[in-house]
Amino acid sequence: MARSPVVVRRALPSDAEVLAALHARLYPAHAVTGLRPRLTAALARHDVEVQLGVVDAGCGAEQVVGVLVLRLTEVVALRPGGAVHVEQLWVDPEWRRRGVARSLLAAAARTAERLGVDDLACAVPAGSPSGREVHRFLARLGFGPAVTLRTADVGRLQRRLLGSGAGAGAAADPRRRTALDQLVARRRRQLLTGVERRAAGT
Ligand SMILES: CC(C)(COP(=O)(O)OP(=O)(O)OC[C@H]1O[C@@H](n2cnc3c(N)ncnc32)[C@H](O)[C@@H]1OP(=O)(O)O)[C@@H](O)C(=O)NCCC(=O)NCCS
Repeated sequence: MARSPVVVRRALPSDAEVLAALHARLYPAHAVTGLRPRLTAALARHDVEVQLGVVDAGCGAEQVVGVLVLRLTEVVALRPGGAVHVEQLWVDPEWRRRGVARSLLAAAARTAERLGVDDLACAVPAGSPSGREVHRFLARLGFGPAVTLRTADVGRLQRRLLGSGAGAGAAADPRRRTALDQLVARRRRQLLTGVERRAAGT
């Protein structure tokens, strides 16, 4: 039986439920509390655009078979003009090699054109088979490497920075801060005692 054609449409805040279900499917090990309201808020932002590839699932219902998340930035450091960033691109394995991703990227290109932006940048997951798949797909469309994005766990980074003595010096180290607080308190007491003595004329 022939499959119904894929239509690309922009996700609205009312699609938060659909996206939450997609998130649960893509990241089954990463349940996020309060995801639905967060998605509703994200979908209402002017700098976020989510495009969905949908097919007719019958009885007036639709099935999401692809998703593309765009972040629209007005300024990009060290580069003139803004850029449209593809944060996520995913197509349901059952629907791959049917042009869904190309249709989603075409929507992204239209958005960039509308904004008068020259560059479309695409984030690709590193070191995974799906990442390699996206790399190959994008390379064939002419996307070249631009920057390497490294991420760090914030807590681990802070511990490393403290360990190396970087940061705000004494203020960044709780032990040194306590010693400093004690010194300031002692000096304040000494000053007060001096002032009281002078006031008493002793
Ligand atoms: C990479 C990915 C997005 C491609 O999606 P897709 O919908 O299969 O892509 P398209 O169908 O538009 O194009 C794929 C290929 O199929 C070809 N194709 C498109 N329509 C076709 C058709 N009707 N018949 C045959 N081939 C077709 C395209 O020309 C393209 O060929 P190429 O690979 O030689 O360039 C998809 O494989 C994917 O989602 N991978 C996982 C990514 C992921 O995990 N993302 C989550 C983290 S961000």
